[in-house]
Amino acid sequence: MSPLVKLLYLLAAVLFILGLRGLSSPATARGGNRLAAIGMLIAIVATLVFGEILSFTGIVAAMIIGSIIGGIFAKTVKMTGMPQMVALLNGFGGGASALVASAEFLRYSAGNEALPLSTNISIQLGVLIGAVTFSGSLIAFGKLQELVTGRAVTYPLQKTFNAFMFLGTVALMVLLVVSPGQVTVFYALVAVALVLGVLSVVPIGGADMPVVISLLNSYSGLAAAMTGFAINNHALIISGALVGAAGLILTNIMCKAMNRSLANVLFGAFGASPQVITAGGGGADGDRTVRQVTAEDAATMLAYARSVIVVPGYGLAVAQAQHDVRKLADLIEERGGTVKYGIHPVAGRMPGHMNVLLAEANVPYDQLKDMEEINPEFERCDVVLVIGANDVVNPDARTNQSSPLYGMPILDVDKAHHVIVMKRSLNPGFAGVDNPLFYMENTSMFFGSAKDSVVKLIAAIREV
Ligand code: TAP
Repeated sequence: MSPLVKLLYLLAAVLFILGLRGLSSPATARGGNRLAAIGMLIAIVATLVFGEILSFTGIVAAMIIGSIIGGIFAKTVKMTGMPQMVALLNGFGGGASALVASAEFLRYSAGNEALPLSTNISIQLGVLIGAVTFSGSLIAFGKLQELVTGRAVTYPLQKTFNAFMFLGTVALMVLLVVSPGQVTVFYALVAVALVLGVLSVVPIGGADMPVVISLLNSYSGLAAAMTGFAINNHALIISGALVGAAGLILTNIMCKAMNRSLANVLFGAFGASPQVITAGGGGADGDRTVRQVTAEDAATMLAYARSVIVVPGYGLAVAQAQHDVRKLADLIEERGGTVKYGIHPVAGRMPGHMNVLLAEANVPYDQLKDMEEINPEFERCDVVLVIGANDVVNPDARTNQSSPLYGMPILDVDKAHHVIVMKRSLNPGFAGVDNPLFYMENTSMFFGSAKDSVVKLIAAIREV
């Protein structure tokens, strides 16, 4: 590899890192994305121009077809379809790494060349991780797209069988190290890895797919890095390592915010049976009273509030009420109140779900506050508007040791002077548990679909 190519790869790596840094805040995310894209362009051009490419025909044709398909997807995919799209892209990334590593293996074995041990192991790891990522991501896509059941599919001795499959791949890899170049054994490794990917994702419920997708994203990076070692491409090693690390960090953040271990997500079969939901929200205590509020009374509270914190959740995304929420916030501000948004790291169903929704409605970035930043402010806040959120504001997470949510960090909305909860019923959210917030003295329930309710509030506040 020429020094110029190495230098260009280094420049690309620096741009990737700066790009990742930009992605850490909504205000700089677009710029960060652009920097990383320029880095990728430099890496691709350096590889194509300075690599030992025999013919450009196939490459150019593939790039044109890929760009058209990618462009159409990017333009047409709905925000709610984003996790599926990411799952597919991860899968193709893993698949591409597995194909490149396989091509390298077949090149060596066709030429009867001696395969160095380090290259041999890198190829095998690239193929194993890439193939698992490919088939696992397709199942994750299928679950989210409802092409296959979203339920966690379990059967007797499932974990034992999966463990045997994994040991099978290790045995095949050892065989390939002991006697390199055996094409049949290599194909067997590819096949077992593909089956392992399917079997690892099948027992995980559809609702946990965002965590799985983040983990598969990390795998796709590791597969790329391994393939980078196999073909001695520094850009691939660095970018793969960055994707691998970033995916793992995000997976860890999500697990922590849900107060679940990664092992529980992967092996806990959350969502194997449908949740039983009762009209009272699943609580055994039927005596508790719920205070309901009319649009007019809620509008009066909001119109005279000095500080309002909006807490968005999954229901806001379902109802697509973000644009109306922005209009409501503008009206409150016109009347002299301040409006901030408290964002829980796992509100909604995908990482950054609420940030993306609110950005769509052009909510100013400086009004979006992370959980740690907003929590101390609830005590001083006049009115909290909880819109379609449930688990992320459940006080049981702080106090009730028997709750499955116990220990999960939450938004402390119950500490505010007044809380208005907007949802359609007392039904539970993702975790399937009752929420004592709904029965507290400082809470008023405003029942209805989030969009209709916010529209009613806008009309009522104009009359105050
Ligand atoms: P949830 O606890 O799931 O609650 C959402 C609430 O929205 C439901 O109780 C539902 O109540 C209400 N809702 C649904 N449709 C609505 C509509 N059209 N209008 C108004 N309300 C509506 O949501 P959350 O508080 O955002 O918490 C997220 C949960 O998902 C957490 O448990 C988290 O661990 C989990 N999770 C998150 C992620 C990521 S990465 N974000 C990934 C996997 C799992 P009604 O039916 O009564 O309306």
